[in-house]
Amino acid sequence: MAQYSIGFIGAGNMATSLVGGMIAKGIRPARIWMSDLDGERLAGLRQQHRVHVSTDNADIASQCDVLVMAVKPQVMEDVCRALAPQLAGREVLVISIAAGVTVANLQAWLGPHPVVRAMPNTPALVQAGATGLYAVDSVSAAQREQAVQILGSVGLTFWFEQESALDAVTAVSGSGPAYFFLLMEAMIDAGTELGLDRATAQQLVLQTAWGAAQLAITSPNSPDVLRQQVTSPGGTTAAALDVFEQRGLRDTVNAALSAARDRSEALAK
Ligand SMILES: NC(=O)c1ccc[n+]([C@@H]2O[C@H](COP(=O)([O-])OP(=O)(O)OC[C@H]3O[C@@H](n4cnc5c(N)ncnc54)[C@H](OP(=O)(O)O)[C@@H]3O)[C@@H](O)[C@H]2O)c1
Repeated sequence: MAQYSIGFIGAGNMATSLVGGMIAKGIRPARIWMSDLDGERLAGLRQQHRVHVSTDNADIASQCDVLVMAVKPQVMEDVCRALAPQLAGREVLVISIAAGVTVANLQAWLGPHPVVRAMPNTPALVQAGATGLYAVDSVSAAQREQAVQILGSVGLTFWFEQESALDAVTAVSGSGPAYFFLLMEAMIDAGTELGLDRATAQQLVLQTAWGAAQLAITSPNSPDVLRQQVTSPGGTTAAALDVFEQRGLRDTVNAALSAARDRSEALAK
């Protein structure tokens, strides 16, 4: 693949994770540019990763073939409008990771550039992310590969044909880590109620969550089969699962994810 240059507008948590992942995967730091309002943060990033940095977004935009828009959604419009003159007449792939900012918004603010919209999640911070991707028709096959090289450096990537699928992705994987954190919290509380000390309950729960995820990822079996394999009739697991089922865990999960999807749709409007 050609040695394209990549600029990050906004050098916060997500951009920093992506840059760490890209460098770990062999992308040369000399190809990476980062801008942010915070000069001290940038100086730290330059020292840590040897990337180019600037407090001037336009300076970064003028150097790069791919621009990753990594500021918060609420400042995206102002940031994009200010960059539009810099990008006019140039072929730049724009990748936005901002939640709820549509490609129509991005193209209205930046101009008619090829745009990829990405929905990553926080496990990207530990290179275990899951990202949904949507591209407008003008994005070339090579640019799609560039998007996968960037977002795929911190985890798995999945393409979707419809932009609206990103609302479902937001509900499943974007917001998903928090659902597992809630379950962990509830299990730690319950373990403590059962007489374990909190620190031990927490270690048991976290190791169990990690182990279950590892098992589910590496096993050829789907989670429902794995569940059945560890549930003996009349046993302890069955006793707990009966309570989850009787109290409507599946309906609750369904309603919760629908609420997240609806909220994602509303935010995009
Ligand atoms: N974190 C996640 O799990 C996650 C998941 C999915 C999507 N996203 C999306 O990723 C984007 C970034 O999230 P994040 O968690 O990395 O946020 P973050 O840590 O707040 O990073 C945003 C960075 O942009 C800087 N910034 C603000 N205004 C700027 C401007 N005009 N020009 C240049 N830089 C500017 C911020 O500086 P200040 O702090 O000084 O304002 C901050 O360093 C968001 O749009 C979010 O929706 C994040």
